[in-house]
Amino acid sequence: MVWIKVASAQELSNDEAKTVDVAGYGVALYRIDDEFFATDSMCTHATALLSEGYVEDGCVECPLHQGRFDIRTGKAMCAPVTVDLRTHAVKREGDHIYVLSPAGK
Ligand code: FES
Repeated sequence: MVWIKVASAQELSNDEAKTVDVAGYGVALYRIDDEFFATDSMCTHATALLSEGYVEDGCVECPLHQGRFDIRTGKAMCAPVTVDLRTHAVKREGDHIYVLSPAGK
């Protein structure tokens, strides 16, 4: 397993998200209450990037059909989403944010 440096902490404010590349895999990185979390970037319902969604109360709302996911657990919270998101381990070292590579590369 490899930790990939994906961002600096100052790149995201609280309740913001961005898509980052983790060994060729698109991951949505979020900042909530000064903690960082990561999920798959693609919604499980259709083709939409969750990093372009609305982040509030620890959830992200998909920009396409407004399905919501719990960012910490990936749990699908309301229709039309029914399939949970995969989450990814995140660590912070100083100003650097790392995500554990989902590909194990
Ligand atoms: Fe995300 Fe439909 S694409 S809710």
